[in-house]
Amino acid sequence: MKIVQRFAEVRASTAGRLGLVPTMGFLHEGHLALVDAARRDCDTVVMSLFVNPLQFDETRDLSRYPRDLDRDAELAEGRGVDVLFAPELDEMYPQEPLTRVTVSGTTDEMEGAHRPGHFDGVATVVAKLFVGIRADRAYFGRKDAQQLATVTRMAADLSIPIEVVPVSIVREQDGLALSSRNVFLSLDERRRALGISTGLMAAADAAEGGERDGLQLESIVRARLDGVLIDYVALAGALSARRVDNLEEDAVLAVAARVGETRLIDNVFLTVRGDTIVADRGTRLDEPSILYAAHRD
Ligand code: PAF
Repeated sequence: MKIVQRFAEVRASTAGRLGLVPTMGFLHEGHLALVDAARRDCDTVVMSLFVNPLQFDETRDLSRYPRDLDRDAELAEGRGVDVLFAPELDEMYPQEPLTRVTVSGTTDEMEGAHRPGHFDGVATVVAKLFVGIRADRAYFGRKDAQQLATVTRMAADLSIPIEVVPVSIVREQDGLALSSRNVFLSLDERRRALGISTGLMAAADAAEGGERDGLQLESIVRARLDGVLIDYVALAGALSARRVDNLEEDAVLAVAARVGETRLIDNVFLTVRGDTIVADRGTRLDEPSILYAAHRD
């Protein structure tokens, strides 16, 4: 695996069908599942690793975001990444950026309403990665459902010739969605956080059993949330990322909640196939994730 810091070096190191896995590092099996998907489809896999200051709405969140390049490089190489692009700030933002990419509509509600400026930061850096690396496909996790809707729409609106490929959420054995932020949870917070995935799984069962009413599905989730501060529970269109009343089109049932000082998000995608609903509950690991295992040691 090559580790490079310049866009030009990425382009000089790649051949054939190119898959991009954009990350902010501190990798876990969720990121590695993106690499697996890219590896299956593409000749060359590039992982970008850049903690993008533009997308952090809280400076404290940015300063405490976990970073470990050596650990990430080892994991990326072990999973088959060909090129790790880990730019310094001056490669991504050689001068104060006066340009922002704003995707309206998909960013108004849910995360957009709680994190002002966040999606402008995401869309701007992802546009730079798409344009600078010129990959054929880019892999994004379904955990950040609104980000997925936003970058998909951004690439289409700007005619960037790239296919955005969604990948299912990876969960701990007990259902907790993997997130680099999980390392901040105490054991008690982690126990309380489990209500989020338990609630979503119960709502997924109800949806597959015929429940299509948004408020009903949301209340099934809320009933399992105890000891967490809820930002929102919302049924939204999978592509529009806007709230819907009923499950009539492909949708995402999404939750954001604070557990202690840590803000967590999670969701289930609900695909409408005629009269049936198929829920993407994500995949579960057989053993504690590298992230959580490292945290407990
Ligand atoms: O999902 C993330 O890790 C980030 O938002 C991304 C897509 C790498 C952009 O900084």
